Amino acid sequence: MEPEQIKNIRLLLVDDEAQFRSTLAKRLQKRGVVALQAGSGEECLSILEDHPMDVVVLDVKMPGISGIDALSQITERHAETEVILLTGHAATQDGVEGIKSGAYDYLTKPVEFDHLLGKIIQAYEKILGEKQQKEAAEYRARTKQQMIATERLAALGTLAAGIAHEINNPLAIINESAGYLESLLQKQEYADMPRRAVFEKALKKIGGSVGRARNITHQLLGNVRKTKPILTDVDAFELVLETAQLIKKEAQEKEIVVDLQTAEALKPILTNPNQVRQVLINLISNAIHATPQQGRISVEVAPTAGGISIAVSDTGTGVPKEHLEKIFEPFFSTKAPGEGTGLGLFVTREIVEKLGGTVEVMSKIGQDTRFTVYIPDQGRAENMGNR
Ligand SMILES: Nc1ncnc2c1ncn2[C@@H]1O[C@H](COP(=O)(O)OP(=O)(O)OP(=O)(O)O)[C@@H](O)[C@H]1O
Ligand SMILES: [Mg+2]
Repeated sequence: MEPEQIKNIRLLLVDDEAQFRSTLAKRLQKRGVVALQAGSGEECLSILEDHPMDVVVLDVKMPGISGIDALSQITERHAETEVILLTGHAATQDGVEGIKSGAYDYLTKPVEFDHLLGKIIQAYEKILGEKQQKEAAEYRARTKQQMIATERLAALGTLAAGIAHEINNPLAIINESAGYLESLLQKQEYADMPRRAVFEKALKKIGGSVGRARNITHQLLGNVRKTKPILTDVDAFELVLETAQLIKKEAQEKEIVVDLQTAEALKPILTNPNQVRQVLINLISNAIHATPQQGRISVEVAPTAGGISIAVSDTGTGVPKEHLEKIFEPFFSTKAPGEGTGLGLFVTREIVEKLGGTVEVMSKIGQDTRFTVYIPDQGRAENMGNR
């Protein structure tokens, strides 16, 4: 063991012979180990309450509580502490008993100094080894849990896309049939049909609900499953302007100002414009939902080393810290049923990652929220480190 490490050993010497303790402590100090001292089992236990120790060198034969009794209390209350017993020459039986009750080892008095120091170091090494093992086990458990979470999400995404695909066909049939019935109702021969208005109303409801269900399946299928991406030169700011136009109505309804900013020297990048548009729609519409009446949203486009970044900021509700990861999970939504599917950000992350980029979120509850997407220029070879 390195001398540096020896210095770290937290050591307690417990013996009723003050002379023996102080001589031992002095010799230990010369070798770099600073030891605390206790004159009885009681004192030893009370020191341990406030000062956790790595190693306790414990005399067995003391007035008051015996070393063996002190040992059993130490193993019970301070499992991380190792105990080396010192027994009388004729009392090795005590040592054997002590090991049974959890002592690291025992030495018979009179002790040879180097032998004792060697044992103290060994006991300390055992502690370090166990600590390392414990840390490694914790690390393994943590990574395993993270892996399970990631795999679960990926599986969930695939499953969701699969279900969406299967649901699309029956949805189309429901939609067509409802449309057909609607067109029938328009015909002259049904003009006087009893309760015609009720039928019409019901068919409208069907149409509306089919529309909502289709929004979900389109989010999942149109973007997650697109296999052949179309790549073109995209002027990101043009795309932002165009997208802002698409959701102008939503913003106007709440009298929200959408502030668009760009850097001067923005070069076009090679990417999939439809997918970037979808990402922008998802982020801006979330910002609009979170922003109060007459609020302000900003969208900033800037060049990065390997492509561009687009940041959508708002000063709306904010995302609570414990939701920051969850918001990217499929179907996580804090909106009322029918108002949010909880797919927007899931799809956003899927798209951006497929484009080779990343999404980041920063939010302070009740203050501001900023989603930044980094999108690489796929025309550049070095776009991997796109930041
Ligand atoms: N800008 C934002 N400010 C505050 N919270 C946000 C913001 N963007 C997203 N969130 C939170 O993240 C959740 C998930 O967002 P996501 O876009 O995935 O789904 P949604 O908006 O609820 O529904 P959808 O987009 O499918 O209609 C939201 O319900 C909301 O709680
Ligand atoms: Mg959304």
